Amino acid sequence: MNKVLVTGGLGFIGSHTVVELQNEGFEVLIIDNLSNSTIDVLDKITSITNKKPSYFNIDLKNKADVQHFFKENKVDGVIHFAASKAVGESVEKPLEYYENNIGTLVYLLQEMKAYKITNFIFSSSCTVYGQADELPITESAPIKPAESPYGNTKQIGEEIIKDVTNISNLKAIALRYFNPIGAHESAKIGELPIGVPQNLIPYVAQTAAGIRKELSVFGSDYPTIDGTAVRDYIHVVDLAKAHIIALSRLIHNKNKTAFEVFNIGTGKGNSVLEVIKSFEKVTGKKLNYKLVDRREGDITAAYADTAVANKELGWSSKLTLDDALLSAWKWQQTL
Ligand code: WQD
Repeated sequence: MNKVLVTGGLGFIGSHTVVELQNEGFEVLIIDNLSNSTIDVLDKITSITNKKPSYFNIDLKNKADVQHFFKENKVDGVIHFAASKAVGESVEKPLEYYENNIGTLVYLLQEMKAYKITNFIFSSSCTVYGQADELPITESAPIKPAESPYGNTKQIGEEIIKDVTNISNLKAIALRYFNPIGAHESAKIGELPIGVPQNLIPYVAQTAAGIRKELSVFGSDYPTIDGTAVRDYIHVVDLAKAHIIALSRLIHNKNKTAFEVFNIGTGKGNSVLEVIKSFEKVTGKKLNYKLVDRREGDITAAYADTAVANKELGWSSKLTLDDALLSAWKWQQTL
């Protein structure tokens, strides 16, 4: 019971999860179409763990290829990361997002049902909550109408999975990530910067490296501690470890219901200015930034209530914001 398919396993969160799976003795098979990753990540993972995952260059939109993979490979569980995840891009290209994030999920679940693979971990997001009415955000917070096609694909994805667990032996866990940041301590894997970074931390790191002239802080008039928006920044290694715990929960039938959701965050909110101050402290680099208007679609604040994950999974984040920002800087310096 230890062969696991990781879709998107060469991506940012996927690659860190593959390392932790291998550290725990799992045999890992990776499907990745390299649309948001590069093949050298495979060697980097191998150099960290001294175990080379099996890699399949398959696009999950190709149903025949997905069927062939499952015909040829017996796995005990699936961790599904492969999806498009840029909020702004999803507004411009909704059909591409629905095809890539929903169509592929359906193909995966069809094959899992056909081959009686009953352990499924789904990469979900705190985006499903929109701007929550209460903070910290619990798993029972209302799911708000999605503010982007990307967020909608996460909401719909969870609903599809729940429906399948109702009519089959599928056991599934959706992990609702807050803001994943940082990099592996080896600085061999991290968040690959493809194009101009949309997310805060890669942009901060590239500004410090002189690749970007200055960071624009989107909004300084929010009703927060210093006017800048608040998020729950979780170290990607802590996040990766949550996946192994969740998968083991299913493999050992410890789940309480067939479909479970868990918020995976630190439980602490930090503003953009607090992030900048922390980055400058741990790196000794002065960051060049300016305060500009809010970014369309951004929410004021989000941070997790992690009580359920702490209690049910026995998981909590161990690494700090400082740890994550220093690791992001060390990773940036290798690029
Ligand atoms: C964080 C904060 C920005 C860039 C998104 C997705 C979410 C998840 C994580 C996939 C915000 C501010 C940012 C910049 C800035 N992705 N910012 N200047 O928007 O919280 O979440 O990424 O699952 O689903 O919604 O993350 O890193 O883009 O922004 O001031 O150049 O940093 O306004 O307050 P976000 P982010």
